[in-house]
Amino acid sequence: MHTVLYFYTGTGNSLWTAKKLASELGDAHLVPMTQADDGIVHSDAGCIGLIFPVHIWGLPHRVLGFVERLEPADSAYCFAVAVNAGQVAATLLQLEEVMKEKGHTLSSGFSLCMPSNYIPWGGAPPVEKQETLFGEAGRKIADIAGVIKKRSRQAPEKGPWWQNVLFSWFYRMSFPRVPGMDKSFRADAKCNGCGICEKICPARNISLEESRPVWQHRCEQCLACIQWCPQEAIQFGKGTETKKRYRHPDIKLADMLACVPREHQ
Ligand SMILES: Cc1cc2nc3c(=O)[nH]c(=O)nc-3n(C[C@H](O)[C@H](O)[C@H](O)COP(=O)(O)O)c2cc1C
Ligand code: SF4
Ligand code: SF4
Repeated sequence: MHTVLYFYTGTGNSLWTAKKLASELGDAHLVPMTQADDGIVHSDAGCIGLIFPVHIWGLPHRVLGFVERLEPADSAYCFAVAVNAGQVAATLLQLEEVMKEKGHTLSSGFSLCMPSNYIPWGGAPPVEKQETLFGEAGRKIADIAGVIKKRSRQAPEKGPWWQNVLFSWFYRMSFPRVPGMDKSFRADAKCNGCGICEKICPARNISLEESRPVWQHRCEQCLACIQWCPQEAIQFGKGTETKKRYRHPDIKLADMLACVPREHQ
């Protein structure tokens, strides 16, 4: 039965996960959520996967908007992989709830731990640590594929109860502020006006003015701009100057640019 994997990514972890899962499953193809129609997304696939990063202990704006527009076939097996850095918290419960409100069922939900891309809290982990995480993630993806092939139902994975209560509260408080969080970005003197930040932004939130990026306050906080700037010229608040940038080593800039909204390419 054909599988469609809808994915969203800022630094490639979720794209790598989607690619690996597709090769484990066979007969699967990938669709960036950023290229789905603006209106209702009808899908007649027998199996639908949603693969995305956890943002502030919940669903990113883009993913929530996509799920609210998704209309799977009645008989479709729907699953999700919430890619995170160790704190999935109640993200998959939130997804289950949103789908339920729309009359759909989340048949299984998996948490996958990968390196953190949240640079304000720390730079890229050491390469050995990254390799360990990729190895563990690869093994878990093979297990996830086994569950999906059998169309087994599995309760969504979640964090400890206190995380789910406390961090879901933080999520609800932060969610409306996300579009304006780009006020903390700036480009420093290393910027050479190459325009990659403008091209890679999935929200078309960056425009170059006099060859320097200006953020337009409709940010999704994917962090693609800061992590992919080849000059490391973008900073966020205080302290990112000295922090190592993170991108999944198997995902290239061209892969990321192929995911941005088509009208932006
Ligand atoms: C704005 C933001 C918030 C994040 N919040 C969380 C979080 O609540 N829990 C967590 O485990 N990781 C969190 N992360 C880390 C990412 O979920 C993680 O690095 C993920 O693998 C990135 O996937 P991507 O490369 O596909 O974007 C956050 C990252 C960003 C950019
Ligand atoms: S990607 Fe970096 S160097 Fe290129 S325009 Fe943007 S900030 Fe400047
Ligand atoms: S401005 Fe940067 S962090 Fe915000 S959506 Fe665009 S690429 Fe992502």
